[in-house]
Amino acid sequence: MEISVKTVNIESAKTPCIVVAVADKRKLSESAQHIDTLSNGYISKLLRRGDISGAIGDELMLHNVPGLKAERVLLAGCGKLNEMTHQRYTNVVTNISSTLSKANIKSAIVSMADLTIKNLSTSMQIRLATEALQQNDYRFSELKSDSAASFKKAVLHLADKRAMKKAKLAVEIGNAIGIGRNTARDLGNLPGNICTPTYLAKQASQYDKRYNKLKTTILNQKEMEKLGMGSLLSVSKGSRTPPKFIVMQYNGGKKAEQPYVLVGKGVTFDSGGISIKPGAAMDEMKYDMCGAAGVMGTMVTVNELKLPINVVAIVPSVENMPDGAATKPGDVVTSMSGQTIEVLNTDAEGRLILCDALTYSEKFKPKAVIDVATLTGACVIALGAHPAGLLSNQQKLADQILAAGTQCGDRAWQMPLWDDYQDQLKSNFADMANIGGREAGTITAACFLSRFTKKLNWAHLDIAGVAWYGGAKKGATGRPVPLLTQYLMERCGKQYSV
Ligand code: BES
Ligand code: MN
Ligand code: ZN
Repeated sequence: MEISVKTVNIESAKTPCIVVAVADKRKLSESAQHIDTLSNGYISKLLRRGDISGAIGDELMLHNVPGLKAERVLLAGCGKLNEMTHQRYTNVVTNISSTLSKANIKSAIVSMADLTIKNLSTSMQIRLATEALQQNDYRFSELKSDSAASFKKAVLHLADKRAMKKAKLAVEIGNAIGIGRNTARDLGNLPGNICTPTYLAKQASQYDKRYNKLKTTILNQKEMEKLGMGSLLSVSKGSRTPPKFIVMQYNGGKKAEQPYVLVGKGVTFDSGGISIKPGAAMDEMKYDMCGAAGVMGTMVTVNELKLPINVVAIVPSVENMPDGAATKPGDVVTSMSGQTIEVLNTDAEGRLILCDALTYSEKFKPKAVIDVATLTGACVIALGAHPAGLLSNQQKLADQILAAGTQCGDRAWQMPLWDDYQDQLKSNFADMANIGGREAGTITAACFLSRFTKKLNWAHLDIAGVAWYGGAKKGATGRPVPLLTQYLMERCGKQYSV
């Protein structure tokens, strides 16, 4: 979808539709006010009749409004402006986009960035609008002949020309996040029989061809064996599809500058292995590579924006299946770090592949390492579908990630990584067990990882609750591409702040 920002002459603009905001208690936005004046009070008359109140989600399509060249005006309710949040703003724009598509309107002038909202600057409104429009334009079309959205071209109206430079940057960022996020959604939505570790590796190699600052390396099973990744390899032993270890290096900063490293869990299907999962909703375990999708999508965004930093994405990718060669409960494996692990539950496989990837990441001497994983069902119980779980061995890093989430609306919530929980991982037969019992499952999973990140400035994002929607809306969300992008942009100084 094509999105641009311009200062439009509302009176003379020939367009199928102009979209303007009405806040709670029939308060008109600046553009709505302008249209009201041009039409001799036509809008305010309708408001007085009570056709639209300005409540959030409220919409009214008007035709042939006097004084305008535009065919239609869409009034969009925004609710109380002092209660506005990133999420609500995004929902308003998403609804607008669906309404326009349903009405088969192909292009429109969207004037939704003239609201006075605390915590949401004009340029952030532009950026969120861009993200929401790109997001709503997405259809999973690879395997389904779904009809494409009809709304394909939006001109975002900006009244104040002085804000144009920032607004253009906001659209650029919004578009880049849109592309990265939709990339992540495609990878997530593809089924396990297509999106295998080999498929993910092939996609990563394609990005390498598309972007000249990106270098992709794929390690195969033999190379992983040589590196001693016994923990990772113990997960793929029961599968007929070979594991892949994907390393994507983006060089946007100075050559010798230390990189930020992103690690994404790439379990392309998690059956649980010998500790097999129950049948209900097991299909959703094709989404167990959404950490991988999130970091790969972020790499796409980083390349689109050409950020002036170095970023490495590491994706350990396997399929977790039960067969005669599969790892059994009680088996002891040796990780790349040399520490031994008693595999008490083969369904706690994410941490087994991540620990070797985290050890591998040390070689880049990273400024920070963030791993992203659909790691625990416990995280879904604790936090639901709204924030990602965040655990870190450095409070400063945790604070930076929390702040980035608040800034862009793709939020995380911190849980404690106290030593007190480490005891739950005790094993009589190895350096540690891979599970820590029923209590505090998200924390003990992070405790396990923390044993492999002692030398690193490290944070862990558990995205089990946020990576996909279940039910009728079943589909990947592309999170946390906005959060990771925001975090990385904030590491580039002030130049990407909108
Ligand atoms: N991929 C799952 C976690 C998961 C489950 C994410 C459901 C989203 C929805 C992970 O590999 C897993 O199976 N974790 C186990 C850990 C347990 C065995 C300690 C879990 O959460 O039940
Ligand atoms: Mn599992
Ligand atoms: Zn898993």
